[in-house]
Order: sequence, then C-alpha cells, then structure tokens
Amino acid sequence: MLKSKKYLVTAGPTQEAIDPVRYISNHSTGKMGYAIAAELARRGAQVILVSGPVCLPTPTGVRRIDVVSAEEMYQACVELWPQMDGAVMCAAVADYTPVSVSDVKAKKSAADLTLTLKPTRDIAAELGRTKRTDQLLVGFALETDNEKVNALSKLTRKNLDFIVLNSLRDAGAGFGGDTNKITIFSRPTDPAATSLKTEFPLETKQQAAAHIINTLSAFLK
Ligand code: C5P
Repeated sequence: MLKSKKYLVTAGPTQEAIDPVRYISNHSTGKMGYAIAAELARRGAQVILVSGPVCLPTPTGVRRIDVVSAEEMYQACVELWPQMDGAVMCAAVADYTPVSVSDVKAKKSAADLTLTLKPTRDIAAELGRTKRTDQLLVGFALETDNEKVNALSKLTRKNLDFIVLNSLRDAGAGFGGDTNKITIFSRPTDPAATSLKTEFPLETKQQAAAHIINTLSAFLK
C-alpha cells in the first residue's frame, strides 16, 4: 500500500545563527525521524528526508536534503509538498530565530547581552493549510506538561491526520536515547466522534516507527 507513495519526513533540530560562530538550537538528535524514514523506505515508499544538522547515516533507499535553519527547512518542505502523498513532521524546529545575524563574531564584554528573537514559520501548519484530501499529514508533540491538551490542540490547529505524543515526563522517552514511549491521537473520519487514542509501551525508536507507519497505513485503506 505504501509502495511507490511519496513521503516527506522532517528530522533533527534546526540551528538559528547568531553570528558566524554561534547558534541557538535544541537537543534533538534526529533518531526518531530517521527511524521513520527508514521504516517508510523499507515498506516501499519513496522517501525524501529533510534533515537538520545531525550525526546519523542516511537510511538505505532514502533521499536526504540537508538544511540548517527553520527558514531553510520551511522553504524545502513547502516546495516539495505538492508532489507528496504525505508527510511526517518529526523535526524539532526552532520556534524563534534572531532578528539580525552579525557578519562578524560578536565580541565578549562585561555587559549583559540581549538577543532579540522573532517567531519562525510553522512548517506543519503551512502544509496542513494547503493539504489536499489525497494527502496525509502526521505531526509530533514533545511535551513536558498538559500533554493531552497540547497534543490535541496541535492536531486540530495544524490540520494533522494524527499526532504522536511523547512526554519528557516518561522515563526513556524524548531526546537522544534509543527508546521512546508514544501515544497516538488520531482525527476520526467521522467528525461527530471524539479523537482516537492509542497508547504504546516503552519501546525502541524502530518499534515506535513501525507503529506510526502502521497507523499511517490504516488511513490509506
Ligand atoms: O513545536 P510544536 O510542538 O508546535 O511542534 C509540533 C509539530 O509541528 C511537530 O510535528 C513539528 O515538527 C512541527 N513544527 C513545524 N514547524 C515549526 C514548528 C513545529 O513543522 N516551526
């Protein structure tokens, strides 16, 4: 069913430059997104992986496009989206970026330094806004509190078909490690029904990726 379908996957962090030497980023290692790209390719999909800076090998059969900033990731994804059958938005995109980037390394001084940041553009929300009925869009929510409320709000606000929640409150979930504990909230096709919740045990990121792709495949039936 996934054979010859085209899927976009985003993974890893973004880096927002302050000057030629320094940047703002986060702890994402890209492992979950790379596992998803690998699983999609293993099941026969044509996968384009738009990746922030990570230290991981490109999964077999996957075409990888490297980007650095949130704006570069936005441009790459928006351009690819019309040719895709779906997308899994796994990247930990920076929410803010410096308003101005210095051309030269900022010098140290004894005074406090204030950085002015502006919001980045939301890639998943833009793909959700332009999503066709034949396209599927999957998002992630990494939360530290109010997990279910936040995940459900992102599910509807970004017009996703389902969202994968991981909580930093769960041991073994989140950044860096090889395991994750996910809960999937799906938007039922029946608008009268409430969202569907499926909770999985702590498992490897490969197992979690398989569950996510099983859920995605169920939408294609
Ligand atoms: O950052 P947030 O919790 O809103 O992220 C939820 C989902 O939206 C994730 O799937 C993430 O990859 C995506 N996202 C994005 N572009 C952003 C922020 C988040 O695609 N600028």
